[in-house]
Amino acid sequence: MILVTGGAGFIGSNFVLDWLAGSDEPVVNLDKLTYAGNPENLASLEGDPRHIFVQGDIADTDAVNRLLALQKPRAIVNFAAESHVDRSIHGPEAFIQTNIVGTFRLLESVRKYWSELQGDAKAGFRFLHVSTDEVYGSLSPAEAAFTESRPFEPNSPYSASKASSDHLVRAYHHTYGLPVLTTNCSNNYGPYHFPEKLIPLMIVNALAGKPLPIYGDGQQVRDWLYVKDHCSAIRRVMEKGIAGQTYNIGGWNEKPNLEIVHTVCALLDELRPRVDGKSYREQITYVKDRPGHDRRYAIDARKIERELGWKPAETFDSGIRKTVQWYLANPEWVAHVQSGSYRDWLQTNYAARAA
Ligand code: NAD
Ligand code: DAU
Repeated sequence: MILVTGGAGFIGSNFVLDWLAGSDEPVVNLDKLTYAGNPENLASLEGDPRHIFVQGDIADTDAVNRLLALQKPRAIVNFAAESHVDRSIHGPEAFIQTNIVGTFRLLESVRKYWSELQGDAKAGFRFLHVSTDEVYGSLSPAEAAFTESRPFEPNSPYSASKASSDHLVRAYHHTYGLPVLTTNCSNNYGPYHFPEKLIPLMIVNALAGKPLPIYGDGQQVRDWLYVKDHCSAIRRVMEKGIAGQTYNIGGWNEKPNLEIVHTVCALLDELRPRVDGKSYREQITYVKDRPGHDRRYAIDARKIERELGWKPAETFDSGIRKTVQWYLANPEWVAHVQSGSYRDWLQTNYAARAA
């Protein structure tokens, strides 16, 4: 079996669902269930003996040691993290605790577990660390996309904490020989995306008749990848990646934020027109920029294509249409995640950004 951490979050839950749709190999899912972890994402697996859910913290060494000894995974995929840049600006502590201390403690547990394995089990074991393109910092408009050899220049507490965890993972390979793999991926979008992030926030705010808050001039560029493509890339790296290597994952799909929001509005205009016949674009509002806002990310994903034969299957047009359709078809999921703590977060982040 494999162990997935953070498998009740956005990407982790898509990964678990896709894994079990394509394989009978069981998944142990260790998740702390922070505000971002949602068991409802995994509701379709209820009663499925191939999915074992364990609520717990990657930083809880005793619990992780017991879990490893009991379940004996052949591989671990580490999604568990605090993942929202704006939250890291308002409160970095949780990012340091989970992304740095948590990854460190998990690595220690995994090193102990792996060092006691024998023969093929030891040789075949892999620890895959899921990371982000944000560790590389920000690009100017004319600069070449990030390759795997680009020096790290993280700019937010979130990206600095992820960069730190990537360094720890690298060091555990170099020093102890732990068979690690690291992936650095661009912005994901798709089903089960928590509506604090740009695309789902725009969809739910548009439908609720609320402002669509654009930070700064809206010309910041991100590379967008459909989440199921990220999951297929991770499976490929697990299967064929060389231990100790890092692989960039991206969608070859750079777009300014404003264009993304216009696309979401156009899809909603088509699929769920406003009752007054006006476009959802009318709700766009320019607000105060994110402090230290990275201007551009772009991923050079040629290594994973050349060495492992992976390419994204979804175009942005098809992926964003599926995403908007998913949110329209799942109003209960949206309503359930809009808890009191979600409303508190909106107040914390947006009250001070008045247009
Ligand atoms: P998410 O915030 O939606 O989910 C994170 C999950 O981790 C949640 O289920 C949460 O409960 C769990 N978690 C948090 N702290 C934990 C802890 N201490 N122990 C166990 N579980 C814990 O995040 P996501 O968007 O799904 O991102 C998953 C991973 O992918 C993160 O490592 C993130 O840095 C990385 N990543 C995300 C993106 C993106 O666009 N979302 C892109 C590239 C890389
Ligand atoms: O690049 C990968 C990263 O992508 C991941 O590592 C992070 O976990 C993930 O959250 C994401 O980070 P971003 O900061 O790029 O994503 P976010 O959705 O928060 O913002 C995308 C862009 O949209 C960014 O330039 C900020 C802008 N934005 C965001 C929000 C929430 C707005 O203009 N308005 C908003 O209300």
